[in-house]
Amino acid sequence: MVDKPMSNHRSRFPFSINKLIFWSLISLAVILFFFVGSPPSTATTTTSSSHSRRSLRGGPQWQTSVIRSSTPSNPKGLRVLVTGAAGFVGSHVSVALKRRGDGVVGVDNFNRYYDPSLKRSRADLLTREGVFVVEGDINDSSLLKSLFKLVKFTHVMHLAAQAGVRYAMKNPSSYIHSNIAGFVNLLETCKSVNPQPAIVWASSSSVYGLNSKVPFSEKDRTDQPASLYAATKKAGEEIAHTYNHIYGLSMTGLRFFTVYGPWGRPDMAYFFFTRDILKGKQIQIFEGAEHRSVARDFTYIDDIVKGCLGALDTAEKSTGSGGKKSGPAQLRIFNLGNTAPVPVGKLVSILEKLLKVHAKKKVVAMPRNGDVPFTHADISLAKKEIGYKPGTDLEKGLNKFVTWYLAYYSNESGKKDRLSSW
Ligand SMILES: NC(=O)c1ccc[n+]([C@@H]2O[C@H](COP(=O)([O-])OP(=O)(O)OC[C@H]3O[C@@H](n4cnc5c(N)ncnc54)[C@H](O)[C@@H]3O)[C@@H](O)[C@H]2O)c1
Repeated sequence: MVDKPMSNHRSRFPFSINKLIFWSLISLAVILFFFVGSPPSTATTTTSSSHSRRSLRGGPQWQTSVIRSSTPSNPKGLRVLVTGAAGFVGSHVSVALKRRGDGVVGVDNFNRYYDPSLKRSRADLLTREGVFVVEGDINDSSLLKSLFKLVKFTHVMHLAAQAGVRYAMKNPSSYIHSNIAGFVNLLETCKSVNPQPAIVWASSSSVYGLNSKVPFSEKDRTDQPASLYAATKKAGEEIAHTYNHIYGLSMTGLRFFTVYGPWGRPDMAYFFFTRDILKGKQIQIFEGAEHRSVARDFTYIDDIVKGCLGALDTAEKSTGSGGKKSGPAQLRIFNLGNTAPVPVGKLVSILEKLLKVHAKKKVVAMPRNGDVPFTHADISLAKKEIGYKPGTDLEKGLNKFVTWYLAYYSNESGKKDRLSSW
């Protein structure tokens, strides 16, 4: 009975209905492929590897990649989820972990805060090192849950954030999205899984804000942030305390001081000064009140990486399970700086020497846009507890940065070189 009208139907419209159904299904499949498979913020420049990363998400091949990447080659190795893995610090930390035998999976949303092609290049390098980077947002609970379902991560190295102090005046909500909502979403996932991972995450020296006591110690006040970025990092420290207190998550916050080096961030002064000096463009050097020079405790990336690994290796296990705490858990905060502040004018003169170009400089009063006049880290606590010992001075570190910069941005052959070296 049911079949009959259908066969009538078929005989009256022999080709058009079949064709219509066929083409509708094809169109639907194409639409689903592009819209469901695409994360919200993707770069305009995509490589073939990133295309495959997206199309495989959640499928069997994707799962195999996640499992393979997270499996340590050293039997005693950690299983680390690195957020912000395509970022400056995240890419360096991921490579260092993988090279010493830990299992690593990265997550990054490849947002457009700065040139996404640089993030793509870092991610391509990670792929070559055997680190799989999932393209996704830390606000995506189902993504995080599926990763934790596949892998019993022992640690999370949380570096994804909206960085930069001045950009907060242009796009404040991006700071709330990544540094507050994203962080809470990550912790919600971590507190619910079993076993709970230990979490090491990036706070910032910016939490010291208008503190004028030097050097900055972890015991100093941090209730006077000078930017929204700083306020979100300070909020992160309070949020970390809450999840440690209620759910027994082991939490270690690292206050990085102006990190620089190869594969760095184009929004940072040492990077855009290099670019502008080479272009013959005038650069602005800020000075503080009463013509005092602005100074930063510039810290070389390899030293920061050692600090991150030291924090991961000394992190105790979380004490909760199934969302319930069963005892007090570790809660730490460390400065990771270089303990040697350098005036920005000196930074420029080192760059002039390395680039062999005279910079066109203009000294201007520092605008009130979130920057602070100086930073200076007291690192005695990190030295004692995680064996942190920075060993790179600014001239040596900038030399490595400039060498990388010239190779990376020179020409097509430089492009090949940049992919074969870290
Ligand atoms: N570089 C420094 O000097 C410095 C100083 C203090 C603190 N920090 C902190 O260290 C961490 C790493 O900084 P960086 O210099 O490598 O910055 P970065 O911008 O290069 O790296 C951050 C990465 O996180 C990703 N990301 C941002 N929001 C995300 C989201 N919601 N979901 C998924 N991925 C997201 C970005 O795409 C980026 O690749 C950040 O937390 C930053 O605030 C850095």
